Parts: sequence; C-alpha cells; structure tokens
Amino acid sequence: MTLPGAPWLHRRGRTLHLEGVALDALARAHGTPLYVYSRGVMREAVRRYADALAGRPHLLCYAMKANSNLAVLQTLAAEGCGFDIVSAGELERVLAVGVPASRVVFSGVGKTRAEMGRALEAGVRCFNVESLPELDRLDEVARAHGTRAPVSLRVNPDVDARTHPYISTGLRDNKFGIAHDEALAAYRRAAERAGIAVQGIDCHIGSQITELAPYLDALDRVLDLVEAVEAAGIGLHHVDLGGGLGITYADEQPPGADAMVRALLARLDARGHGAREVLLEPGRSIVGNAGVLLTEVQYLKPGPHKNFCIVDAAMNDLVRPAMYGAWMDIVPCTERDGAARTWDVVGPVCESGDWLGRDRPLAVRPGDVLAVLSAGAYGFVMASNYNSRPRAAEVMVDGDRAFVVRERERIEDLWRGERPWPDDA
Ligand code: LLP
Repeated sequence: MTLPGAPWLHRRGRTLHLEGVALDALARAHGTPLYVYSRGVMREAVRRYADALAGRPHLLCYAMKANSNLAVLQTLAAEGCGFDIVSAGELERVLAVGVPASRVVFSGVGKTRAEMGRALEAGVRCFNVESLPELDRLDEVARAHGTRAPVSLRVNPDVDARTHPYISTGLRDNKFGIAHDEALAAYRRAAERAGIAVQGIDCHIGSQITELAPYLDALDRVLDLVEAVEAAGIGLHHVDLGGGLGITYADEQPPGADAMVRALLARLDARGHGAREVLLEPGRSIVGNAGVLLTEVQYLKPGPHKNFCIVDAAMNDLVRPAMYGAWMDIVPCTERDGAARTWDVVGPVCESGDWLGRDRPLAVRPGDVLAVLSAGAYGFVMASNYNSRPRAAEVMVDGDRAFVVRERERIEDLWRGERPWPDDA
C-alpha cells in the first residue's frame, strides 16, 4: 500500500518502506534523528525535468542549497545535472564530486571578492549578478585575474509568487535582483565593462510555488527585457528561469515539472524565443519528496489542554515548522493498533517554537519511530547545533540497499575549533 500523497513510500504489512528498505530497521541500526533519502525518487524527479527539456538547448542546474550532501550531488551529477550554487562552500562541494565548473551557475546577493576569485579560477559557467555594486566588484576581480566574468543579470520581475513571504523573492520589496525598470541600464553598463562578458538573463521569483501563472508572468516580463536588451545591441545567449516549483506537503497540487517546463517552452516559442538556451534552478522539487526524517518518541505527556508527544528530533534538526509554520506530514514507521489521540509532536529544545507538527492524530507509544515526510529539501542543510545537539546522520537508499552518506556528528565535534582562554594570558 502506498501512502496517500506520498507514492514513493509504501507499507509492507504495517511497516513503512522507502524503496525496498524498512525505515524502522534503519532507525534501529543507525539511531535517530536520522535523515533518509531515496536515490530513485530524486533520479525520477530529474528525469521529469530532463524529458520535458529534451531536444532543447538547456542546462538543469540543481539548486544545491536544498540538500548538498555529496552523495546527493553525485547522484544528480550522474543524471547530467548542472548546479546552482550560492557560496564558496557549495562550489567546493560540487568540485569535490567531480562536476566540471562549466556546469555551475553562481547565484546569491552577497558574493565576496574571494568567492568571485575562486569561481573565476574554477571557471564557472555564469555569475548571476544581483546588483550594480556587485557588477562593479566582479568586473574589478575579473580584470585582476586577467579574465572576463560570464554574467547574467538577475532581474526582479515584480510578480507575486503567492507563497510564504519569507520564500517569495520576486517582489519589488525583496532584496533580490535588479529592478525591472533599471535592468536595461544595468545591461548597458555591463556591456561596457572589460571584465564582464554578458551571457544571459536570470530570475527567480520564490519557492514552494504551486501555480503556473506566476512563472508565465515572470517569463513574459523577462522576455520583454530580452527584447529591449537585444534591441540595444547586447546579445543574450540564455534565459535562466530560476527554481521554485512546489511539492505536496499536505494537499497542495503543484503542476508537475514536465507540465511546468512544457508551459514555459510553449511561451518561449510563442514569443519567438524557441532557440534560446534555457536554464532552470530547481531545488525542492528534485529532493524534497525523496527524504524523510526519522525520530523516536521519548515521552508522552498528555495534559488538560494539549497532549505532547516528545520526540528526539528538534528545530535544530528540521527548522521548517518552527521557522515558516510549515506543515509536514508525520506518520508512524510501524502502525500499531489502538485509537489515535491528538498530539503536538515537539522536540527537546528549550523553546516553545520547537515543534514538528501540531494537533496530529497518532497512535503512538514511547520507543516508536515516526517519519516526518518530504524532509529531503531544506532539512539537514538548515540544521544547527543549538542546545549543543550533534547533527543527525544521513542515509541514502537505492532499491534494497542502504548506505550512511554522512555519519552522525560526535559530541567532540561540537567544540572542534573552539579554544579555552589560555590561563597564562
Ligand atoms: N535559485 C535561487 C536563486 C534560489 O534562491 C532558490 C531558493 C532556488 C533556485 C531553489 O528554489 P526551490 O526550487 O528549492 O524552491 N528554506 C526555505 C526555502 C528557501 C528557498 C531559497 N531559494 C524552505 O524551507 O521552504
């Protein structure tokens, strides 16, 4: 039986499996909290994009901020993915798994000189530049390196992605991108710089977008600019439409990646831009549904107003519920008989905001393992050591095989790099 809304998970008897692997058994073998990722689900997600893009010049750049474990990068690189990075750390991770820098685009509002220099040395495919001061700095750094930096300007199309305000990025009031009205002048400036080679145009309007309309509106706004920029004599090779496609956490029904890509390509064709290379930067829609977070129930604390199910995963392991009020499904790894009660599933961290789910009907006992679903994106990567909690281990499954792709942090890792004040100072 598959779970409603989560066909990648299924129960054999009462036991939840990800691909061919029983999650309860993984929790017992490796401890909890434990992130588990399905290779098959992420490969499948990439193929949906790739199939729809087939026959077109394109580069699918996985936004690795969603999940940057080396085994995830390696799996996606083998599927032919490029990568969207936002820091020197992300650059070194992709290089560490052998991805050529020519398949990497560099986004982000705050690139430092050192990051620019390293990315130029590595030879990244394109810098997505988000402001005029950044353009000036990149020009300077590129000239100092005796080279020209390949550049797209990230324009802010001022469309409402109708998603959570913290993850909406294409509105006038957001810190991201160059205002639509100022973009043509910015391209003129870029074209004059000896250290800049204009390559394309870029936008990204937000995350967890569940409708097509904002994408198409953004594309139209971007194409208006492409036409204006080219009329000014500045050629643009590619159009990068960012990431942001949503996934199903509860009852959202986002378009499939294939439908989204087909709609974008049709609009490009309709406006006479069919030959242009298309770049996309999806993150969540590649890895989100591929992962679960396993956690063991420690205590049940029924009360007059609320019942608390205290588990061993917390906001430091998975911050999305605490940070965005995000709803993520929570299911038992082994179903048990008995009536469900309504529980707030909370962690051990000393904050009332430390919850994973509220008012969840569950039949549970201490020692049971629960799975938080759709935790493959923005899960482990946002983890911290708050309350001096070591970060969880990560396991990848492929068919009936499972492999630890990141070991659990040890207690002594918590103070690595720290130094006591020297007594004789
Ligand atoms: N490209 C750029 C420039 C981005 O800023 C992002 C995400 C992406 C691509 C990938 O977006 P995706 O396809 O994953 O939606 N931590 C939040 C999500 C933050 C998204 C930040 N930018 C969450 O847990 O919901």
